[in-house]
Amino acid sequence: MPQALDAILESFHRAGQGHVFAFADRLGPEARARLVAEASEVDLAELDRLVSTLVRSSGAQSVDLEGLLPAPYERLPGNGGDAAAWAKARAAGEAALRAGRVAAFTVAGGQGTRLGYDGPKGTFPVTPVRRCSLFQVFAEKLRAAGLHYDRPIHWFIMTSHQNHAATEAFFLENGHFGLDPSRVHFFRQGRMPAVDFSGKILLETQGSLALSPDGHGGSLRALARSGALDLMQEEGIDTLSYFQVDNPLVRSIDPAFIGWHLLRGSEMSSKMVPKAYPEEKLGHFCVQKGRLVVIEYSDLPMELQRERDTATGSLRYEAGSIAIHIIDREFVRRMAGGTGGLPFHRADKKIATVDASGAEVRPAKANGVKFELFVFDALPFARNPVVIETARADDFSPVKNAEGVDSPATCRADQMRQFGRWLAASGVPVPGDSTGLPDFSLEVSPLFGYDEETFREAWSRLDPKPDVADGLCLTTPSK
Ligand code: UD1
Repeated sequence: MPQALDAILESFHRAGQGHVFAFADRLGPEARARLVAEASEVDLAELDRLVSTLVRSSGAQSVDLEGLLPAPYERLPGNGGDAAAWAKARAAGEAALRAGRVAAFTVAGGQGTRLGYDGPKGTFPVTPVRRCSLFQVFAEKLRAAGLHYDRPIHWFIMTSHQNHAATEAFFLENGHFGLDPSRVHFFRQGRMPAVDFSGKILLETQGSLALSPDGHGGSLRALARSGALDLMQEEGIDTLSYFQVDNPLVRSIDPAFIGWHLLRGSEMSSKMVPKAYPEEKLGHFCVQKGRLVVIEYSDLPMELQRERDTATGSLRYEAGSIAIHIIDREFVRRMAGGTGGLPFHRADKKIATVDASGAEVRPAKANGVKFELFVFDALPFARNPVVIETARADDFSPVKNAEGVDSPATCRADQMRQFGRWLAASGVPVPGDSTGLPDFSLEVSPLFGYDEETFREAWSRLDPKPDVADGLCLTTPSK
């Protein structure tokens, strides 16, 4: 150990980061070993590059908008799309599912902090009646799809250092929600050190670095590093259905989406919804220099976000990214391999740290920089990327804020509207308001029905039919 310490000390000093060990003498042997272990996680050459390109260089933050055009996408059949092509895609996706080629992949490194919730975001109770967690909703959807296609689905879940143990414990406590534990795979994303505005690594305490998750784009290298890609290969899985932990409405296994991806020979495909209003905080699918890119809402000037097509009146940059992708396994391996992969983004943050005497500092304004990778930055590297339209009401209602837009309340209402539509489609009119929000509480477990079609089948088998007037919660499979 002392030797390792010497080597690490030496490399940090050479890189101008020796201050990281300023308090090492005050630490006991265990705390010092922890500090050394953290320090050895840092890729000093990579950090040096980031400091010179993103921290020290002025103008590093401006995003290149030259030659930017709105991206084309495959419209839904109900919106002018080719119904036969959609049917063909769906059949191809179903064949892949029956062959066991598809796994689900959730990025769940986040905490529920913005929701005012203390715990892994995936454990947040999100459904309107049962108050099931986000993880339970996804687990039930995957279980149901596995039964439907007669091929249990593997589920890869990316956690962070902060929430890994709590996430695993949550699944254990809940019996993995009926999934076979050998098909649920957790792995941790990487961490990046935060630096001050001169590029010096910040210490969180005297004995630890200010490390934070490397962004959902870190999932590509974490999939490779953790051995998940090799496991997929052994299992015959070549296609990943990627979604964020914050969106319980997601069609986590969508055969038509999978089929579009496979039939086009795409390495990474995406879903879009037309933006609801110009200021909506979604990334934008665009084409630049012949490549598909996503430009974040914070990076596209508001005048462009407000531009409208003169003929149709719709927003010119209307294709909003809802962070749902299909990704090819070997594409992940390629992206994770080289050093020229995804670019890092800079985020200026308030970062708890210690001063020169070792005393705690809780800054009132941003005092440093965090570095993050975004998964959609892989799109420009992908062969034949395809963007398809999806119905927002059946695919996207995230929980991000404690109140207002994208909050637990709006998400519960969207879930109830969906269940109400399914009931109506099964011939049971549901009294509600003008937005389709039912007057009574309503919940359908994905195990009963996970889309309109499976719901209608299950409902038609119910005998006798329950009375819906006092609210309804359908949980058990009717088979
Ligand atoms: C994100 C997208 C935005 C998209 C929107 C749709 C970015 C930068 N923007 O916005 O283009 O329109 O979702 O809802 O992503 N996560 C990790 N590890 C990390 C960071 C995040 O696993 O290090 C996970 C979170 O658990 C969450 C997801 O990634 O599931 C989204 O992260 P968040 O930072 O909340 O993105 P948004 O700003 O909401």
